[in-house]
Amino acid sequence: MNNSLDLTPEAFADLLDKSSELVLSKFSDLENQKAFHNYPQQEIESWFDEPLPQDGMDDQELLELVKEKVLDTATNNLGPYMYAYVMAGGSQMSIIADKLTSTINQNVGKWHLAPAISEIEKRVIQWAGEMMNYDQNAKGVLVSGGSAANLTGLTVARNVFFEKNEVRKKGLFGLNPFTAYASSEVHSCVDKSMDELGIGTDHLRKISVNEDFTINLEALEAAIKVDLENGFTPFCIIGTAGTVNTGAIDDLESLATLAKKYELWFHIDGAYGGLASSLDSLKNQYKGIELADSLAIDFHKWLYQSFEAGCLLVKNWETLRRTYFKKASYLDASLEDSDRLNFNEHYFQLSRSGKALKIWMSIKSYGINRIKQMIQKDIDLTQYLAKLVVASDDFELISQSELAVACFRYVKDLNSEDEINGFNRRLIPALENDGRIFITGTTLNDQFVIRACLINHRMHEGTVDYLVKVIREVASTIAINEDAETSSA
Ligand SMILES: Cc1ncc(COP(=O)(O)O)c(C=O)c1O
Repeated sequence: MNNSLDLTPEAFADLLDKSSELVLSKFSDLENQKAFHNYPQQEIESWFDEPLPQDGMDDQELLELVKEKVLDTATNNLGPYMYAYVMAGGSQMSIIADKLTSTINQNVGKWHLAPAISEIEKRVIQWAGEMMNYDQNAKGVLVSGGSAANLTGLTVARNVFFEKNEVRKKGLFGLNPFTAYASSEVHSCVDKSMDELGIGTDHLRKISVNEDFTINLEALEAAIKVDLENGFTPFCIIGTAGTVNTGAIDDLESLATLAKKYELWFHIDGAYGGLASSLDSLKNQYKGIELADSLAIDFHKWLYQSFEAGCLLVKNWETLRRTYFKKASYLDASLEDSDRLNFNEHYFQLSRSGKALKIWMSIKSYGINRIKQMIQKDIDLTQYLAKLVVASDDFELISQSELAVACFRYVKDLNSEDEINGFNRRLIPALENDGRIFITGTTLNDQFVIRACLINHRMHEGTVDYLVKVIREVASTIAINEDAETSSA
């Protein structure tokens, strides 16, 4: 008997075939699948409520179970009715690559543990820089996503600041509190980073925004000056190249100029919009992206990769190495060829997955021009949605950027701000309950709005029409059922 966990070749082949069938079945008829299945939480919990299995079950039955309880109930990111948060639809090539990646089970912490994927990781990082016209000599590291990329960039920024102030020698004792600056629309992962880095969220100055939700530069400079006068030490400006709420792109060039003037680190959160800088139509809006000291991007957003795949790029790779390199006898590199790149020396993680393969295979398979066309399509469809909203008499458009987010609200027969806010707040859970589309809301200037983010290459005008139709239908049921209810925002 085979004393390992492996199956016979025939049984393994059967299961692989079966798993491929399951993949194919997810892709059949995507436009007729609901976006959200709305099972009660307790019901889903009960499916998995069992004691630790002592003995294994039949694998064919296991796959059936997974189909029924996991695949068939999954929130449908694949399909064209997902408009919430920033949920890209993934791509078929990343599915295939994920399977191959786990087959070889490489650990991309050390070069000799994953020679080809280490080189592939270097290459996709280089390509990303090229795509965005970032510094030709920039280097970086793949991380789990935008939050990790921002944390990594800000960790480097903090450490470079520490180096300037000889913190290793002198400690923190003589140092003034140091401050970072971002717009009030900055993603919450930056607050988390400040918290995690021991800088504290109080020291992240949230600067007011202009009408288009980009950072107000006069307010920013004024805040820096006030801090300097009051004994704080500014150390970093964080620009956002595509805010999560509305897709606003800060004036990156002016931010870089201010950073230079006050000798601050310039970090850009491009998790949502960074890759859209590759579009010729948007070159102007991204001017200055190449001036960032560090740049966070996400491949599981506008490169349509499966979760998780983010990336941090830095102008000076030595800063990453100085942040993360630690010597350890069991990792001794003394016998190694000096050109071998050990990614653990440039990042917090030692064991790292081979996510570079799916990015590389996707770029090779589709080519960057096709990917850019898909990004442009998302943007064009968002403009189409905005036009539908503007042309209607039951919706009001609240924000639209050059990227693929539009915020709007339902206003039909609603007479006051309170009524509109209350109604739209009720609309979101009602839409979740309906399940045909998946969309969430946000608050802009104290107005609760429905927020649509289009980041799925399977969408087309018909699916956008369907979004508007479903919202209308669900809104009409609320209006009928809850007409008399006074709203409470
Ligand atoms: C602007 C921005 N920054 C950071 C993030 C966080 O990225 P992730 O969800 O990959 O951690 C997001 C996610 O939507 C984002 O839009």
